[in-house]
Formats: sequence, structure tokens, C-alpha cells
Amino acid sequence: MIALIVGSGAREHALVRALRRDTQVNEVHVAPGNAGIASDAQVHAIDPLDGEAVADLAAAIGADLVIIGPEAPLVAGVADAVRARGIACFGPSAEAARLEGSKAFAKEVMAAAGVPTARPAVCATLAEVEAALDDLGAPYVVKDDGLAAGKGVVVTDDRAAALAHARACLDAGSQVVLEEYLDGPEVSLFAVTDGVTVVPLRPAQDFKRVGDGDSGPNTGGMGSYSPLPWSPADLVDETMRTVLQPTVDEMRRRGTPFAGLLYAGLALTSKGLRVVEYNCRFGDPETQVVLARLDSPLSSLLLAAATGTLADLPPLQWSDDAAVCVVIAAEGYPESPVTGGVITGLADADAVEGVDVLHAGTRAEGAEIVASGGRVLSVVGRGATLAEARERAYAAVALIDLPGAHHRSDIAARAAGQ
Ligand code: AMP
Ligand code: GLY
Repeated sequence: MIALIVGSGAREHALVRALRRDTQVNEVHVAPGNAGIASDAQVHAIDPLDGEAVADLAAAIGADLVIIGPEAPLVAGVADAVRARGIACFGPSAEAARLEGSKAFAKEVMAAAGVPTARPAVCATLAEVEAALDDLGAPYVVKDDGLAAGKGVVVTDDRAAALAHARACLDAGSQVVLEEYLDGPEVSLFAVTDGVTVVPLRPAQDFKRVGDGDSGPNTGGMGSYSPLPWSPADLVDETMRTVLQPTVDEMRRRGTPFAGLLYAGLALTSKGLRVVEYNCRFGDPETQVVLARLDSPLSSLLLAAATGTLADLPPLQWSDDAAVCVVIAAEGYPESPVTGGVITGLADADAVEGVDVLHAGTRAEGAEIVASGGRVLSVVGRGATLAEARERAYAAVALIDLPGAHHRSDIAARAAGQ
């Protein structure tokens, strides 16, 4: 198989490494990729948001499967453009990607499908926002309706801060969604679907706040781990029954089937399981740990979803190993990341047993690799236990130098019993 991955982050690098382990895959291409991906795959400098350019490239390299990583190309219809050329594509249509592209739409689908979620108030004016803040009470949860790269949500006890975020969203021309606060730990559960059959992957947990002990602002994700030893034994079954299958069925009923990866962000609240959000693509950094544990060939799974044949796929095989991912972020991330710093120690870190150093915001400058984005690297450790996976990931992190960079030191610590 010849595969083309669209995107340039550590999630895409994890997809590259999983496809390279897969004996059915002969060639892996990535558009546009990054400095690390370039040493594992053939990279092509095209605009990932340009559907015709992606479809032209897929045709030119003879791709059997195109896999779209990020949400922005999906919401922009890049999967539709690829399929229009008769090329199999893993990723939902633009219409189905609205599950992530509009929080108001996602709430509407959840209501129709009877999926448990936080009670929302969709507001178009400041007066509506003020009334909703009074109605829902603190802590306030205020969300930009549209895509905001993980930074559109403010959770705060401060009414003035909640109002200020709502005003900023409204001023930018977007509606704003306020909702009931959900307590309890969060879990990310991914499911691969062809629009009818739904195959759940393994749960993972993401660390959204920038600092240790969940301090500081929300980010795109500072680390992740899987499995979750503390989670209820029936978590996957219950999520399949109450969330994933009903949502896929509802999307099909509407004539806009969702085929690709459905990411359920869940809160295990004192009142039971609730959906925090849907995403229409693999999560980052959870993919880095979920794929590290997948023993089945990734290409067969994604191709079956893209071609409507998931019902015929044998059950997925999973490793008993644990995986822990630590994100190294540039100085100033998430507010104002400093780019251009030189990164050293990458080869030594990648050589640590059980470790993959996956690149996100990196660029080659001559012989050097420099930081080119906020989240720079995902360092993934795999081991027999979470404690061992953690030890390996942090041993590799210690070998990497990027001036001013920061990372969390408590990823998976509690789950590993440390
Ligand atoms: P979202 O972009 O919807 O995933 O939100 C980003 C993060 O904000 C989530 O992972 C939660 O940590 C937090 N969050 C979102 N919605 C709620 C809610 N209703 N209650 C509590 N926290 C929330
Ligand atoms: N890990 C959060 C996300 O991918 O949206």
C-alpha cells in the first residue's frame, strides 16, 4: 500500500511510525510533515487545506489511502476532494466534520441521539450570555462555537473573565456556547467508523493544562498515557452503547454519515458519563500513546473505515504494554511561543529503549533542527507498566535540550502510583 498522510504534528508522526511498522505498507508520504517526519517518510510541501492540491498529490504518487490528521482540512472538505477523485480517504466529509467544527451542531446531534452531555446555552448576544451565566452558575464554561485549536474554551469562577471571553468570541463573529460545568476526570476514547460499524480503540487521558498539578491555562495537550488503570471496567462498552453508536447512527439518519475517527472527550462525573466534546480526528497527544499499543496493522483498520468494510475486519489486537507521552513545548507556550531555538540530543533520546521521539513544531535549518511551533516534540515511552513507560519517556526528555523549553513533570504520575 502507498499511504499519504496530511498534517505536520506529532500525531501525524505517530501515524507514520505505525504505518512503517505495518508490513502491508510500502510507501509513506506526508504533506507537509516536519523535520522529524522527513527522516521517516517522503514529505511534500503543499498546503494541507487545499483539497485539489492534496487530491493531485494523491493521484500523482498513486496513493491507495489518504489519511487526514488535523481538523481544519476536514472541516474545509479536503476528504471530499480526495474521494471525488476515486481515492480512498480516512476522514469525514466536511458536513460530518461539523461535529467538531461547530459546538452548537454537536450539541444538537447529541440531543437528537440522546447522548449525555453538559446542558448548553447557545448565545448570539451579550444579553443572552449574561442570562445564561446567571442560569448555569459558576464555575462558568464558555466556548467559542468554531474551531480554536484547543484554545477556545475558558473555565472559570470569575464572572468578569467568563463575560470577557464570551465578548471576544462574539466580537470575532462567532456564536458562543455556555454550558453546565462537568466535574470528574476526563477520558479520551477514539472510535474508528465507516459510518455504520464502530470499532473503539483504547481509552487514554490527556493533560490539557500547561503546568504540573493542572495549573495554568489550557493548551493543545501537554502529555498523555494509556491504559487508565483507575477507569471503570465497562467504560468502553458503556461509551459504545450510550455515545459512539448512537451518534454514528444519528449522523447516518441525517444523510451525513460520519466515517473516520470519532473522538469522544468524556467526563466521568458524579452523575455519570458525559460527553465534553467531539472531535472528528485522532487526538493529539493521545494518538501517540494509543497507537504505541496497537498490534494490529493500522493500514487495514483505516482502509476498512474508508471503504465501508469495517464489519469484516478481525478484532483488533492490543499490546499489554503501557505508553506515556510527554510534550516538550517552546518557551512562552501557549501564550506566545518563541520559535527558532536549536534542539539537540534528539538522536540519543530516540535511541532510549522503548522510546519514540515524535516531532511536532520542528524545522530543519542546515544541519540543525530548530523549534517552529508551540508544541515542539512528543516523547513517547513504552514499557511493561506505566511506571516503566514513564521512566523511559522522562529519561529521553532529559537528553533533549531546547533553550527555554518546558514540559510537565507529572504526566501519568498518579496513575502509575507515584
Ligand atoms: P473542549 O475544547 O470542548 O474540549 O474543551 C477543552 C477543555 O475544557 C476540556 O478538555 C475540559 O478540560 C474543559 N471543559 C470543556 N467543557 C467543560 C465543561 N462543561 N465542564 C468542565 N470543563 C470543561
Ligand atoms: N487532545 C486534545 C485534542 O486532540 O483535541
